[in-house]
Amino acid sequence: MPKIGPVQLSTPFILAPLAGYTDLPFRLVCREAGAGLAVSEMISCHGLNYGQPQTISMLKSLPEERPWAVQLFGAEPESMGRATATVAAMAVDIIDINMGCPVPKVVKKGAGSALMKLENLGTAEAVIRAVVRNAADKPVTVKFRSGWDEKSVIAPDFARMCEAAGAAALTIHARTRSQQFGGKADRQIIASVKQAVSIPVIGNGDICSYGDGLAMMAETGCDAVMIGRAALGNPWIFQPSGLPDTLAGRLPVILRYIELAIQHLDAARLLFRIKHHLCRFLSGLAGAAALRQEIIVCVNLAEVMRLLQERAG
Ligand SMILES: Cc1cc2nc3c(=O)[nH]c(=O)nc-3n(C[C@H](O)[C@H](O)[C@H](O)COP(=O)(O)O)c2cc1C
Repeated sequence: MPKIGPVQLSTPFILAPLAGYTDLPFRLVCREAGAGLAVSEMISCHGLNYGQPQTISMLKSLPEERPWAVQLFGAEPESMGRATATVAAMAVDIIDINMGCPVPKVVKKGAGSALMKLENLGTAEAVIRAVVRNAADKPVTVKFRSGWDEKSVIAPDFARMCEAAGAAALTIHARTRSQQFGGKADRQIIASVKQAVSIPVIGNGDICSYGDGLAMMAETGCDAVMIGRAALGNPWIFQPSGLPDTLAGRLPVILRYIELAIQHLDAARLLFRIKHHLCRFLSGLAGAAALRQEIIVCVNLAEVMRLLQERAG
């Protein structure tokens, strides 16, 4: 099983950071379903340094979630270093740096995948070194893409730079920034990153099932895989048996998510967040579209629960 620095994972399947989704309850149900590690939503180093309450709330975890990873984003080494020191003092096992986000709001500030632009590679290295220096010996990982665009597919060289700067493991989402989420992730790039470094490599992009995750490891030699979109509404992807095809089969995990959400999410956002995840949990079920419409208009949680129990039979 993969080891990231001193952190031993129990399975090589990792839940990707997904802004707007990988809150504590969802991470926990994925861990309970078999994910060996889950990563927080991306967290702004500035939000942390300014002590913004909403940013701080994203660092909420529980002992049973450990090991867990917090992902930071930012473009200034000093700010990233300071935010790292705050996180490293908490019960966090791995600190991940986002160098893959393609969203204009992030890229415009020089963060995320902008750190893979050829002119920014020096800054990328300085960010990694600052994070490693401030991480109190906790392993630091870097998540990046194939490159900025098709003319600069630099992932293997970028990986070597990350390793030399002190990264303990790497995640490669095998698409360029220009591709965003289009086209297909190129598994050959994952294989070449694996060959370029001696630290563990986590392959990412388009894994659609447990078996497909195993196939990516076999095809590329990567040490672990990270699953993003296909895990939404589908924590069963972390098990060989896969997604149950009836609501009754899915209900125990859905109710567990709701239970954890009630315990751990901010009451003001609770109903919205639960509906947000529930719509995903219903994907592919007969009558899902109609049930989603009914859930969306529910005015409280009791109504949502009653509807689910009723339809599960
Ligand atoms: C809704 C959404 C939110 C995401 N948020 C993050 C994020 O916060 N940090 C990050 O590094 N990647 C983020 N990603 C990218 C995923 O972690 C992952 O790299 C990408 O979706 C490819 O994997 P997949 O094909 O398994 O989804 C996000 C992707 C989606 C669809």
